[in-house]
Amino acid sequence: MCGIVGYVGDRDATPVLVEGLHRLEYRGYDSAGVAVLRKGKLVVTKAAGRVQELRDRLAESAPVASTIGIAHTRWATHGEPSDRNAHPHLDAAGRIAVVHNGIIENAEPLRARLTAEGVELASDTDTEVFAHLIAAELGTGSLEDAVRAAVRQVEGTYGLVVLDRTRPDELVVARNGSPIVLGIGDGEMYVASDVAALVHHTQRVVFLDDGELATVKANEYRTSTLEARRTSKQPTTVDVLADDYELGGFPDFMRKEMAEQPEAVERALRGRLDERFATAHLGGLGLDAMALRAVRRVKFLGCGSAYYAGQMGATLVEELARIPADAEPASEFRYRNPVVDPDTLYVAISQSGETLDTLAAVQELRRKGGRVIGAVNVVGSAVARECGSGVFLHAGPEVSVASTKAMTNMTVSFAMLALLLGRVRDLSASSGARIVNGLRALPEHIEQVLGTDDAVREVARHYSKATHMFFLGRVRGWPVAREGAQKLKEISYVHAEAYQSAELKHGPLALIDPDMPSVVVVPDDELLSKNLSTMEQIKARGGPVIAVTNADLPDGLADHVIRVPRGEPELDPIVFTIALQMLAYHLAVELGRDVDKPRNLAKSVTVE
Ligand code: F6R
Repeated sequence: MCGIVGYVGDRDATPVLVEGLHRLEYRGYDSAGVAVLRKGKLVVTKAAGRVQELRDRLAESAPVASTIGIAHTRWATHGEPSDRNAHPHLDAAGRIAVVHNGIIENAEPLRARLTAEGVELASDTDTEVFAHLIAAELGTGSLEDAVRAAVRQVEGTYGLVVLDRTRPDELVVARNGSPIVLGIGDGEMYVASDVAALVHHTQRVVFLDDGELATVKANEYRTSTLEARRTSKQPTTVDVLADDYELGGFPDFMRKEMAEQPEAVERALRGRLDERFATAHLGGLGLDAMALRAVRRVKFLGCGSAYYAGQMGATLVEELARIPADAEPASEFRYRNPVVDPDTLYVAISQSGETLDTLAAVQELRRKGGRVIGAVNVVGSAVARECGSGVFLHAGPEVSVASTKAMTNMTVSFAMLALLLGRVRDLSASSGARIVNGLRALPEHIEQVLGTDDAVREVARHYSKATHMFFLGRVRGWPVAREGAQKLKEISYVHAEAYQSAELKHGPLALIDPDMPSVVVVPDDELLSKNLSTMEQIKARGGPVIAVTNADLPDGLADHVIRVPRGEPELDPIVFTIALQMLAYHLAVELGRDVDKPRNLAKSVTVE
């Protein structure tokens, strides 16, 4: 959430910075800005709107040659999206420029204090206080010392980059709760909130830890703690490629990432399935058979689609391992003073590994001595590091704001976790083998779902005038329905509501009429007859029915059918969810939406 880029080297900084912003735009896209240093003067250009607006504004003004600068793309927290509130922000004397990702909780008292001291605030943001606080701390010491003194006055989260007009060869960065990564080039250095901005230049990176600062120059970097103790950070090599962030012929990233799901699932399964013992190996959990047997309960925690994946995981664990399991939004869990049970295995789920509520839930668990593992896509991210053990999702970089392949790999990983927990308990070898085979078949089944694209597009076209939709499912199908409704809402802005099928008749059935289509999740499983009667109830009230199914349905029960292949019933939620991604996608495209960057949203929600 919010993208940060910094550069110091020998190249013209502005194009490097703007290109970096473009690659980070999925983190926030309501305004953007850049500050570069030219002959002892900070030149700041900002624009409300997308990075393209900033590009246009830069093109209108005379080019400013500079070899150092900072830039930002914003998702508004404090203050409306506008030129005035866009970053970078300056202190009153125009000496210090800052870009910031995160949220300052004591911004109001700090702003009041600065105003009382006679500072004229130029924006409505929390970030601006950093510029004034740092300027006030500048003395004879280093810029890093001034930044250290300033951040100690701040409560909240920050990934911060600071440029001082009197120091043309260095940037100072600080991190607490919002990621900062340094990119090590050859005679040049980059700073970013995400490797996406760096991998076109370098694969050698240094991830800062919370409470760490760094002074970054073209040929060196120095890291230290808030207490001014030096830390020694060695660069690591990230195994993502620049091409992972290119569209490669697809019209948008969501479509590309949906198409990548068969190979993403292959990656998640690679080396983890054991045909001989009909189980899975998840070495990253750091739990041996005894420890796995000692688990009495499993609780999945995540936000949004990650939470729905957790709900699918809980069903899998109960079905295969026969131990109680449930899922809860991490945002609820962290605030309700949860009872932390030492025999429960907590699973923190996050694609980005940055979601603040999920991170806070993990921290709360650790404080209370709970055993928590991560299910995370981004290696080196805050949730992954805080958990210390878990399952990496191996979905590859996800750029589209709406999660697709990462969410699929979450559920696939939970199927393996459930299998493993089951096989150290009562799940028989033959049942284990059935799940192993089902998982092996998944990439092919996903290909088949993706192959129905034209048919799904036709269904989407047919319902493109709908303003509301129900998504209905039961048991395994219930989180599928929730995720389907969520995807539709977020990328098409069509109102969608998910309901457990059987609950429909307890109230919402009153809403059914010819203008209220219902998408019904109908797996060919032991609950098929129940789902058929749900469809009958809707049809009887004149409601259109779209069935997503791998069953043979009686004629006339559904107005439209989206077909998915038959696999192992426990794994049905995975392929059914992909069919609903496609439905949401085509509806959004039909309505002319920007599917990769839905309004008001951003990827990686690092605010509460
Ligand atoms: C929906 C979506 C969000 C995320 C949620 C958690 O398509 O992408 O609901 O799933 O914001 O994000 P992560 O997984 O990064 O913690």
